[in-house]
Order: sequence, then structure tokens, then C-alpha cells
Amino acid sequence: MKLLIQAVSIAALLVLAVQSADGQEANYSRKGADTCIACHGDAEVLTLFRTKHGAPSLPGGPFGEGQLQCEACHGPGGSHAGRVRRGQERPSVIIFGSESNTSIEEQNGMCLTCHKNNVGFSWHTGAHPSDEVACADCHNLHHSPLDAVRQTSTQADVCFACHQMQRSETQKAFSHPILEGKMGCLGCHNMHGDNAATQLARLSVNDTCQQCHAEKRGPYLWEHAPVSEDCGLCHAPHGSNHPGMLTKRAPLLCQGCHSQSGHPSVAHDADGLASGTQSRFLLGQSCTNCHSQVHGSNHPSGSKLMR
Ligand code: HEC
Ligand code: HEC
Ligand code: HEC
Ligand code: HEC
Ligand code: HEC
Ligand code: HEC
Ligand code: HEC
Ligand code: HEC
Ligand code: HEC
Ligand code: HEC
Repeated sequence: MKLLIQAVSIAALLVLAVQSADGQEANYSRKGADTCIACHGDAEVLTLFRTKHGAPSLPGGPFGEGQLQCEACHGPGGSHAGRVRRGQERPSVIIFGSESNTSIEEQNGMCLTCHKNNVGFSWHTGAHPSDEVACADCHNLHHSPLDAVRQTSTQADVCFACHQMQRSETQKAFSHPILEGKMGCLGCHNMHGDNAATQLARLSVNDTCQQCHAEKRGPYLWEHAPVSEDCGLCHAPHGSNHPGMLTKRAPLLCQGCHSQSGHPSVAHDADGLASGTQSRFLLGQSCTNCHSQVHGSNHPSGSKLMR
């Protein structure tokens, strides 16, 4: 590191100044990073050298042999690095992030010159609009040796900057352990776009959930139709105020689909079937007091999901 900084040559800067006075645009600086660091030697910028991108040993990386170093990402900086006359504006390089004047397309283009294969074609068709969300909105390349979006414990915070609604959902009484930092969004979502709707990690909601909740996959002797269809019919994946992250409490949850006539709504009670009064069995766990195998049953006589 020290060597790089010491190698800065004032003479090179002067030569560049002449070049830009000649009206040459889009020229690269003579000494690469050494030129840039002469003015941008602050700790934040130098943190890059504690990441893969800053490693000279990384083949194809910005600091690999024959690569453009800082300018591999920030674009040609010769004019920017040159001398600026009083009252004149310093020509800009490519600046990253949504706030930047550089178009998102151009920013992402710099990353994609090396990362087409990492993000794949689906980036362009995915839910994160490739002309609205910058790679740099999620990936922090200078500020910390750890890229926050790629650490489970800090990932959600990066997303919450734009996804406020999901933030408030995860703050509800019952949710996945996201705020505790034990789980990120990644278990369920694929970041770089996918063919799946809503950028899910697997092709369907159920495949996604069953990666971790394999015991709910079945196959069951007696299936409960909505469970095989979509876990989201009963569960709010980001969080809910009802135990078990249910979208509603039973019996309301169940009665949303099961008719109120006959047994289902007026369950068996001490007076026998369908006495017309609210059953005490509907208190507490409600329908699941009796229909405890709500995800499906493997018991020969479990057709009513009771065992
Ligand atoms: C002679 C000093 C000097 C050199 C050399 C220099 N810069 Fe700059 N750079 C500046 C100044 C001053 C600004 C602020 C410009 C402004 O606000 O108009 C700046 C701004 C930037 C910014 C935007 C920072 C922000 O907060 O928005 C980036 C990125 C940048 N430079 C990258 C580079 C790169 C890459 C190089 C090497 C090719 C380089 N600079 C060389 C002086 C320099
Ligand atoms: C791999 C791509 C890449 C390389 C290589 C790179 N940068 Fe950056 N730079 C970025 C991104 C992305 C940002 C936006 C902030 C962030 O992600 O941390 C940025 C931000 C900056 C800023 C704005 C100030 C700030 O802290 O936000 C400066 C100045 C800068 N870079 C200078 C440099 C210099 C000097 C070098 C070479 C030593 C360099 N960059 C190499 C991608 C890169
Ligand atoms: C000059 C080529 C080049 C450019 C430009 C470039 N990268 Fe990289 N990047 C690499 C290489 C090479 C790796 C290492 C890949 C590996 O380990 O498989 C890498 C690794 C990464 C990683 C993973 C880091 C890790 O620690 O594993 C991320 C995230 C990343 N780049 C994002 C970006 C973003 C965002 C941009 C644009 C701002 C960018 N890169 C620009 C070449 C580049
Ligand atoms: C919505 C946030 C988000 C955006 C936008 C995003 N990424 Fe990522 N990226 C991630 C996350 C999260 C990971 C970690 C994935 C993992 O660990 O499986 C990742 C991983 C990576 C990696 C390293 C892992 C790998 O696939 O080899 C690279 C390289 C990368 N991203 C490049 C990019 C580039 C280039 C862009 C822009 C075209 C981009 N990313 C846009 C969130 C994002
Ligand atoms: C810079 C802002 C920004 C950041 C950061 C961001 N997103 Fe997004 N995200 C968007 C935008 C814009 C859309 C598309 C519009 C929409 O549907 O809300 C989107 C869409 C999505 C969708 C699909 C929504 C749908 O209806 O299909 C998912 C899932 C998603 N983001 C997850 C994430 C995750 C996970 C992260 C963090 C790793 C993240 N986002 C980070 C802006 C962002
Ligand atoms: C337990 C799995 C899971 C986790 C963890 C998760 N999501 Fe989701 N997310 C889903 C499902 C399932 C959907 C809805 C998919 C559908 O019905 O098409 C969804 C939808 C979304 C949508 C689109 C919402 C809409 O109404 O269109 C966004 C945005 C989103 N998630 C962001 C996030 C963010 C940000 C995180 C991390 C804080 C996150 N998700 C964590 C499973 C999850
Ligand atoms: C990446 C792994 C992972 C994925 C994918 C996942 N979960 Fe979870 N789930 C967990 C963990 C971890 C817990 C917490 C277990 C604990 O606290 O004992 C949990 C707990 C739950 C709970 C119980 C909550 C409570 O309050 O008792 C429900 C319901 C649930 N998940 C539903 C889902 C649904 C629906 C999906 C798909 C949209 C899904 N999960 C996807 C890991 C995952
Ligand atoms: C018909 C509504 C319904 C559907 C659909 C549903 N669940 Fe549930 N789930 C429930 C109810 C009700 C509970 C609470 C059970 C209790 O009270 O013990 C629950 C509890 C859970 C729990 C926490 C307690 C436990 O048994 O481990 C997990 C995890 C879970 N469900 C995962 C899933 C997954 C994964 C899917 C999709 C394959 C799914 N659920 C589909 C109604 C449903
Ligand atoms: C999204 C709609 C939906 C929800 C919510 C739902 N169910 Fe069902 N349930 C069905 C469907 C569809 C069937 C299959 C009916 C059939 O085959 O005739 C079914 C079947 C059943 C059966 C077996 C009925 C039989 O005739 O064999 C029981 C028992 C049952 N559900 C109980 C519950 C309970 C308890 C809840 C609440 C925890 C619940 N259901 C929530 C849609 C739902
Ligand atoms: C006290 C135990 C008990 C409670 C509480 C209970 N059920 Fe039942 N349920 C049964 C029994 C026993 C059967 C089987 C009746 C039969 O075979 O004729 C049954 C059958 C059903 C069936 C199949 C309907 C049919 O005609 O075969 C459905 C659907 C159902 N229950 C839904 C519910 C819902 C929804 C709730 C909550 C509102 C609920 N049950 C509460 C014991 C209960």
C-alpha cells in the first residue's frame, strides 16, 4: 500500500494536464491507482485493498495484470485527475449509487463487463429493474472489507433502505429470525433476478419454503389441498401478529374457505354436534384442537386431519 502511494509522480500529473489541454477526452491516467490515491488516499477508499477487488493476485480483477485498476470501475479518469483551472469544473468520472448523475445503466455496465456470468441474463428480466437499481445500491465495495449485503446479519438492512413495508412486517410479533440477524432475505429470494415470480429462490413458494421446512413437503396420505398449493394461503412469510405467522387466526383462517353451515363453524361441543352455540373448542387453538394435522396426515384414519 505504502509503495503505491509513494510511487505517485507529480510529473505524471503535469503531463496529463497538458494532454487534457490538448482537448483529449476519455483518456486513462498514466499511473493508474497511484494517480488517484494522490488525492483520494482516505481510509474509506483504501478499504478496497482489503477486498478481492483490490488484490493484484486476482486474475481478471481490477488490479490483476494489465487491468485498469480504479478506472476499471470508475472509467477513464485522465482528465478528472488532471489540473483544473480556477473557475473550471473538474471533469467527472463514473460515480456509483442511485444519487449519482451517472445513469444506472452505465454504472451497471461497468460491473457487467466482468460479471455477466455472475448475475446472468435474468438480471435484465428480474424484478429489480436493471435501469432503476444499481449493483452499487446493494454492493458496497469500498466502505467495509465485508460487503454488508452478503453477510446474513446485515443483509436485511441493505434491503430495508428501499423495502420499508418488509421492514415493518418483520417487526411484527411473529416472524422469521431476520431482525435477530440469524437469517437474511436470501433464503427465500434470489438477488439477481430469476425466472420465478417475485424473485423467489425456487420456482414456487412451496419449493422455497420446503428447503428449510422439509417436513411439510409430504407426501401425505391425506393432503390438505391449500398446503400443497401455496403456504402463503395461510402464512405471511415476512411476519404477522398471529402465532405461527398465520395470515389470520383460526377459526377465521379456516372459515375463510370452509363453509359455516353444518359442523365446520359450529363444532362439536359438550351438547353434541351443532348445538348452535359457540363451542369451547373454538377457543384457544380453535379448529386445530381437533384438526391438529393441518399440513396433512399420514395416519390411516387421518382423513379429517385429526391425527
Ligand atoms: C488532483 C486530485 C485528484 C485526482 C488525481 C483524482 N481525483 Fe477524483 N476527485 C477529486 C476531487 C477534488 C473530487 C471532487 C470533485 C467535485 O466535487 O467536483 C473528486 C471526485 C471523485 C469521485 C466522486 C466522489 C464523490 O464523493 O462523489 C470519484 C469516484 C473519483 N474522484 C475517482 C477518482 C479516480 C478513479 C481517480 C484516478 C483516475 C481520481 N479520482 C483522481 C480530485 C482528484
Ligand atoms: C470494483 C469496482 C471499483 C474499483 C476497482 C474502485 N472503485 Fe471506487 N467506487 C466503487 C463503487 C461501487 C463506489 C460507491 C461506494 C461504495 O460502493 O463503497 C465507489 C466509490 C468511490 C468514491 C466515492 C467516495 C466514497 O467513499 O463513496 C471514490 C472517491 C472512489 N470510489 C475512488 C476510487 C479509487 C481511488 C479507486 C482505486 C484505488 C477505486 N475507487 C476503485 C467501485 C470501485
Ligand atoms: C475488471 C473486472 C471487474 C470489475 C469491473 C468489477 N469486478 Fe467484481 N470481481 C471481479 C473478480 C475477478 C472477482 C472475483 C470473482 C471470484 O472470486 O470468483 C470479483 C468479485 C466480486 C464480488 C464478490 C466479492 C467476494 O468477496 O467474493 C462482488 C460482490 C463484485 N465483484 C461486485 C462488483 C460490482 C458491484 C462491480 C461494479 C461496481 C464490480 N464487481 C466490478 C472483477 C471485477
Ligand atoms: C438487491 C440487491 C443486489 C443487487 C441489486 C445486486 N446484487 Fe449482487 N449479490 C447480492 C447478494 C445478496 C449476493 C450474495 C449471494 C449469495 O451469497 O448467494 C450477491 C452476490 C454477488 C456476487 C458474488 C457471488 C456470485 O454470484 O459469484 C457478484 C459478483 C455480484 N453479486 C455482482 C453483482 C452485479 C454485477 C450486480 C449488478 C448488475 C449486482 N450484483 C446486483 C445482492 C445484489
Ligand atoms: C435501491 C433500492 C432497492 C434495494 C436496495 C433493494 N431493492 Fe428490491 N426492489 C426495488 C425496486 C425498485 C423493485 C421493483 C419495484 C417493486 O416491485 O417494488 C424491487 C423489487 C424487489 C422484489 C420483487 C417484488 C415483486 O413484486 O416482484 C423483491 C423480492 C425484492 N426487491 C427484494 C429485495 C431484497 C431481498 C433486497 C436486499 C438484498 C432488495 N430488494 C434491495 C428496489 C430495491
Ligand atoms: C421465509 C421466506 C422469505 C423471506 C425470509 C423473505 N421473503 Fe420476501 N417474499 C416471500 C414470499 C413467499 C413472497 C411472495 C411471493 C408470491 O406470493 O409470489 C415475498 C415477496 C416479497 C416482495 C414483494 C412483495 C409484494 O407485495 O409484491 C418483496 C419486496 C420482498 N419479498 C422483500 C423481501 C425482503 C427485503 C426480505 C428480507 C428482509 C424478504 N423479502 C425476506 C418470502 C420471503
Ligand atoms: C432459509 C431457511 C428457511 C426458509 C427458506 C423458510 N423458513 Fe420458515 N423458519 C425458518 C427458521 C430458522 C424458523 C424459526 C424456527 C425457530 O424459531 O425455531 C422458521 C419458522 C417458521 C414458522 C414458525 C413461526 C412461529 O412463530 O412458530 C413458520 C410458520 C414458517 N417458518 C413458515 C415458512 C414459510 C411459509 C416459508 C416459505 C415462504 C418459510 N418458512 C421458509 C427458516 C426458514
Ligand atoms: C391451511 C392453512 C395452512 C397452510 C396452507 C400451511 N400452513 Fe403451516 N400452519 C398452519 C397452522 C394453523 C399452523 C399452526 C399450527 C398449530 O397451531 O400448531 C401452522 C404452523 C406452521 C409451522 C410452525 C409449527 C410447526 O408445525 O412446525 C411451520 C414451520 C409451518 N406451518 C410451515 C408451513 C409450510 C412450509 C407450508 C407450505 C408447505 C404451510 N405451513 C402451509 C396452517 C397452514
Ligand atoms: C385456502 C383455503 C383453505 C383454508 C384456509 C383451509 N382449508 Fe381446509 N380444505 C380446503 C380444501 C380445498 C380442502 C379439500 C376439500 C375437499 O377435498 O373436498 C380442505 C380440506 C380440509 C379438511 C378435510 C375435509 C374432508 O372432507 O376430508 C379438513 C378437516 C380441513 N380442511 C380443515 C381445515 C382447518 C382446520 C383449517 C384452518 C386451520 C383449514 N382447513 C383451512 C381449503 C382450505
Ligand atoms: C371438537 C373437535 C372439532 C373441532 C373443534 C372442529 N372440528 Fe371439524 N371435525 C371434527 C370431526 C370429529 C369431524 C368429522 C365429522 C364427520 O366425520 O362427520 C370434523 C370434520 C370437519 C370437516 C370435514 C367436513 C365434513 O363434512 O366431513 C371440516 C372441513 C372441518 N371439520 C373443519 C373444521 C373447522 C374449520 C373447524 C373450526 C372452525 C373445526 N372443524 C373444528 C371435529 C372438530
